[in-house]
Amino acid sequence: MKILSIETSCDETAVSIIEATGDFPTAEYKILGNALFSQIDIHREYGGVFPAVAKREHAKTLVPMMEKALHEAGELKGGEGEALAASETIKTLLDRELELFEQLSQFVSEYARPDIDLIAVTAGPGLEPTLWVGVNFAKALALVWNIPVVAVNHMEGHVLSSVFDGSNLAALQFPALALLISGGHTELIKMSGWSRYEKIGATRDDAVGEAFDKVARLLGLPYPGGPEISHLAKLARAANLPAFTKLPRPMLDSKDLDFSFSGLKTAVRYAVADKGLSEDDIKAMARDFEDAVTEVLLKKTERAISEHGIQSLILGGGVSANSHIRDSFTEFFGREYPELALYLPDPKLSTDNSIMIALAGHARSSTPTAPTLEALSLIRASGNRSLAEETL
Ligand code: KG4
Ligand code: ZN
Repeated sequence: MKILSIETSCDETAVSIIEATGDFPTAEYKILGNALFSQIDIHREYGGVFPAVAKREHAKTLVPMMEKALHEAGELKGGEGEALAASETIKTLLDRELELFEQLSQFVSEYARPDIDLIAVTAGPGLEPTLWVGVNFAKALALVWNIPVVAVNHMEGHVLSSVFDGSNLAALQFPALALLISGGHTELIKMSGWSRYEKIGATRDDAVGEAFDKVARLLGLPYPGGPEISHLAKLARAANLPAFTKLPRPMLDSKDLDFSFSGLKTAVRYAVADKGLSEDDIKAMARDFEDAVTEVLLKKTERAISEHGIQSLILGGGVSANSHIRDSFTEFFGREYPELALYLPDPKLSTDNSIMIALAGHARSSTPTAPTLEALSLIRASGNRSLAEETL
């Protein structure tokens, strides 16, 4: 089965074509085409993702990304094309996106229907305006080409991309635990089997990635802050810089599996307030913050593992690209829990992409009813992640 997948939940516009041979979860996957445009440079000047701008950029970029992915997959064939303009329904679907409608009309009149069996699109969680662009685009394609479309949960995509080796999904031992750490989420998800999810812990305020981005802003670093902090923290460790301040470890000893990161961000704000920071101060602060976050994540994950008899641990979401967190998890669990299988995503697949959406689309089409998926809050948009629109 060939899957065309679409991701527009935040600031990456991505389209892939993946071929799945066999059934989920034992299928073999081949990446036939993969196109991704990151809007990071556009949002940097706002200090965060601005939803209205992100939406406009997705609308502008979706057709070029689809064209690139189909071209790579050898699916861009000239031909009769479809009379898109004739369809009032499609016009209604894309009535707020005139440019997208025009680009799509042009595209489908120029090229023949590609050989695609399923369209997978991120339906949530994410920024509501940007999700709608992707969903309406997917619906329009589904109507024009008469291809079924499946709604995908972005977080399930992160889980699956972490256990994907480029062609297969790992043979997971259950129960498994996924620690999902991204710009919008921090969740501990227990999996009793494939497609069976239960949320057993979550942040009560900021997500980890959000905390990285906000602390970076307090330190005068550009968006997105995660990679910046990671880089400076590494320099601080290499130079063995003394601690800048002692930061708290929020909820480290609470008896539940929840997290809280807004207090940590506030502690950084007080520590740096009205101080002229030297370059070494900023590096030391970045390291102190990264250490505090890592310690809390490790301890809560360990608690979940021992309370729930976990066999496999999956780290996923944009923050799982962080090398200190990856190394700390590998070292700690390798030493203390040698029987536990640990899965880390390929750093290229840690942050948002559409390959993970194709994998989740395949899962959804093979397991149409998975009631516990509700635990991952499908469709619910996660609010406004724009740092520019809120105070720290
Ligand atoms: O999964 P993702 O691409 O988007 C969401 O679904 O939110 O995650 C983006 C987040 C941002 O907050 C970014 O700062 C963070 O992941 N991030 C990192 C690193 N790379 C990306 N955080 C820490 N260290 C990194 N190396
Ligand atoms: Zn994500």
